[in-house]
Amino acid sequence: MWRINAPFTSVSSSCDSIADMRKVVVTYSSVYGSSRKYAEALAGRIGTTVSDASSPDLSDVDLVVHFGGLYAGTMAGLKRVVGRMPDGSSLYAVSVGIADPCVERNAKAIDDVIWKHIPDGMKDRVRIFHLRGRLDYPAMTARHRAMMWMLCRWIRGRKERSEEDQMVLDTYGSVVDFIDLESLDPLVSAIEAWRQ
Ligand SMILES: Cc1cc2nc3c(=O)[nH]c(=O)nc-3n(C[C@H](O)[C@H](O)[C@H](O)COP(=O)(O)O)c2cc1C
Repeated sequence: MWRINAPFTSVSSSCDSIADMRKVVVTYSSVYGSSRKYAEALAGRIGTTVSDASSPDLSDVDLVVHFGGLYAGTMAGLKRVVGRMPDGSSLYAVSVGIADPCVERNAKAIDDVIWKHIPDGMKDRVRIFHLRGRLDYPAMTARHRAMMWMLCRWIRGRKERSEEDQMVLDTYGSVVDFIDLESLDPLVSAIEAWRQ
């Protein structure tokens, strides 16, 4: 699943050797490993380096592909990566969350979270992609478990429930895994097109 949320102009070149020199770096910020798994799979497919966003080397980079887990209205690592990108470089921001991004309001809410951290002057060099991750209650920190418990309490208190609300209630305490490495295909195609 992927979405294009801003006009994006790629710099095309008829000279292959120059195109080959454009540097792509994959970064991730991942608490439970979903974003890391996607990031490593992508880096393997496109043949580039991958690193944790806590200390990324973004020197001379032309395109950063950042995978970040979604945590209650934030995308992990995004602010740090954006703050370290060289002038003129581009960003593919890839959200990894449990909400289904095929549901329009979910995608819009995630987009809003991401755009909040993108400076105006950079917006035309950003594309947003959405992927689905995994919830693993047995592996969760006590704080995260408590946050999910509060979310469930809030959902139970609502008059109407979406299918997704029900899924959150039904799966509380267990493992829910939506990771699908094939969902990287559109992102790989976009990077290949950018490299042309
Ligand atoms: C406390 C908490 C809050 C979360 N908030 C969101 C959210 O706002 N939107 C969403 O789609 N997923 C949310 N998730 C699900 C995570 O984004 C999902 O588990 C993702 O796979 C985490 O990626 P990571 O393992 O790379 O950190 C939340 C999970 C936890 C534990």
